[in-house]
Amino acid sequence: MSIDKTNDKQDMIALEKQREYMQKMRSHLSDLEQKTGRKQTYFLLTTGCQMNAHDSEKLAGMLETMGFAESPSEQKADFVLYNTCCIRENAEDKIYGRLGRLKYYKKQNPNMKIAICGCMTQQDVVIEKLQKSYKYVDIVFGTFNLYKLPELLYESLETKDTLFDIWKEEKEIVENLPTVYKNTFQASVNIMYGCDNFCSYCIVPYVRGRERSREPEDIIQEVEKLVHTGVKEIMLLGQNVNSYGKNLENTISFGQLLRQINEIEGLERIRFMTSHPKDLSDELILAMKECKKVCNYIHLPIQSGSNSVLKLMNRHYTKEHYLELVRKLKQAIEDITISTDIIVGFPGETEEDFQQTLDVVREVQYCTAFTFIYSKRSGTPAATMDNQVPQDVIKDRFDRLLQVLNPIVAEVHQKQVGKILHVLVEEVSKQDASILTGRAEDNTLVHFKGTKDCIGSIVPVKIIDNKTFYVIGERI
Ligand code: SAH
Ligand code: SF4
Ligand code: F3S
Repeated sequence: MSIDKTNDKQDMIALEKQREYMQKMRSHLSDLEQKTGRKQTYFLLTTGCQMNAHDSEKLAGMLETMGFAESPSEQKADFVLYNTCCIRENAEDKIYGRLGRLKYYKKQNPNMKIAICGCMTQQDVVIEKLQKSYKYVDIVFGTFNLYKLPELLYESLETKDTLFDIWKEEKEIVENLPTVYKNTFQASVNIMYGCDNFCSYCIVPYVRGRERSREPEDIIQEVEKLVHTGVKEIMLLGQNVNSYGKNLENTISFGQLLRQINEIEGLERIRFMTSHPKDLSDELILAMKECKKVCNYIHLPIQSGSNSVLKLMNRHYTKEHYLELVRKLKQAIEDITISTDIIVGFPGETEEDFQQTLDVVREVQYCTAFTFIYSKRSGTPAATMDNQVPQDVIKDRFDRLLQVLNPIVAEVHQKQVGKILHVLVEEVSKQDASILTGRAEDNTLVHFKGTKDCIGSIVPVKIIDNKTFYVIGERI
């Protein structure tokens, strides 16, 4: 779905309305502050992918504009908001568990407001469950109307009933929401929303709607603004960035977008995720090669190495096609590293199918792989497929996958020893205050001795040791 240009106005009106609600909330919170002698606080929990994490940056932006301060403790917060994920069942179970605990906290603090939003709440079964068993939740909203948080909060001040506001699709992309970034030198930027791929196991297309690309000018403007404030590295986000721009009125490819962003002065690094193998074009590989700022790293989910499983998954590529892409990427881009996602135990997966996945893992030599046990998601085609694989078989395959994968990850990192990598320093290690951690251009996680004034800088580091999932270096 493309967003009609006439919607631009709708988008501005929608934003203006929320600005007014933010203002109203601000005076309400300031009255409360005078009465209680303390600032009202929020606790925001985010589960899920980078898309959700970025949504939370906008939610936090709106909350702080309203005058809330962040609370370190959920128990003491005045407003608790869960931004949820439903990609696997255990993600949902955890939320129900935490909501249960919140009931107890709310008994101790009856003025606490509780809200839940994100992917989970876009499902009818979840809404029914919340209506029936979680009546103490004050606000429930979804992925398409997250910008309405100020209005919903304001409305909830006047009612004891739960407010439900769930849309089935997006009406407009609301630009320019206030945003709180995780740090001053890295930022995520949405380039598109939703997904049209309907992989047969996946819930995302049902909870995030159809694919919608943002206008390139809006993206460029956002990146320019961020660079102006000191951002060095941006992460372009979409469920399938390789199909960016296809549905815009003036079509543009993802490769072309990368080239435009590469021109932005002051920006140092460009990353993106996620790339779907079926849409990874030669034109994009060339853009990655020619754009100096685009990092030599790609996350390219394979899901399974078996052609029959890939077909049942509705992935639209074969193992051979995938391996050919990997060959082209490695040939075109010097020292490129590749990571992936793998699902174990998709319905009908045989030992032979699983062996094919292991073959791909051995051949590609991934720097990291996110491995998942298949989780049945109701409403998806795979949920009703025959031959669901027994849990003990899945568990055994999962363990064997890690036994093959981990030595490969170690081997890939061992190849870094002796090299000089340029590391964007992110933070001080949680285990050791004398150690800094950061990522090289190829996404290698590097630990090295240093002082915290380096945070936010890109520094040369000589790699001296390999610790399987990260490497140790020395500042040079
Ligand atoms: N759009 C991205 C992935 C988003 S979800 C892509 O297509 O690559 C992130 C990962 O979660 C997927 O790549 C897949 O490996 C995993 N996943 C999705 N649905 C799942 C399910 N039902 N069970 C287990 N893993 C799942
Ligand atoms: Fe899910 Fe497939 Fe879309 Fe990724 S591409 S979000 S796995 S449906
Ligand atoms: Fe992301 Fe989970 Fe939603 S992976 S898109 S937060 S279902």
